[in-house]
Amino acid sequence: MKNLKLIAIIVIANMTFSCTSKKTVVVKTVAAKTVNSLLPTDIELKAIQPKYPDVTLQNLNNGYAIYTGACTNCHGMKNLYNRSEQSWKHEVDDMAPRAEITDSQKDDLFKYILAMKASRSVSTN
Ligand code: HEC
Repeated sequence: MKNLKLIAIIVIANMTFSCTSKKTVVVKTVAAKTVNSLLPTDIELKAIQPKYPDVTLQNLNNGYAIYTGACTNCHGMKNLYNRSEQSWKHEVDDMAPRAEITDSQKDDLFKYILAMKASRSVSTN
């Protein structure tokens, strides 16, 4: 009887603990995405690597900085998701000279946009 009670306590303690730790993980993920949904993460990196294996998180971070920096000097932030890859290629080619960015910055920016779009299309939202 004493043993049963002890087992019950251990089982309950275990359940409580595993529930608590699961909750913590979920809250963290949601919080990171809510704080800045434009910030590239490993999720966006993995989403673009099948097509562009050489892209690094550093490239995406550079692209993010340009997108939220130089690209907002004349107008507000454009929606990332309502243009096709082809249309974005055209816009980035058109806007790069206006934003006075180098070819390598332009490449980072384009990869950033594609990574954000790719991760959106594989997500469940
Ligand atoms: C020097 C000012 C300037 C900078 C810097 C600039 N843009 Fe623009 N952008 C404009 C103007 C003006 C228009 C609207 C007229 C046009 O398309 O020529 C425009 C239009 C656009 C459009 C299409 C508008 C729409 O809603 O259909 C997109 C997309 C865009 N810009 C993205 C960017 C990106 C990405 C960057 C950074 C590389 C950038 N812009 C930097 C001036 C700028």
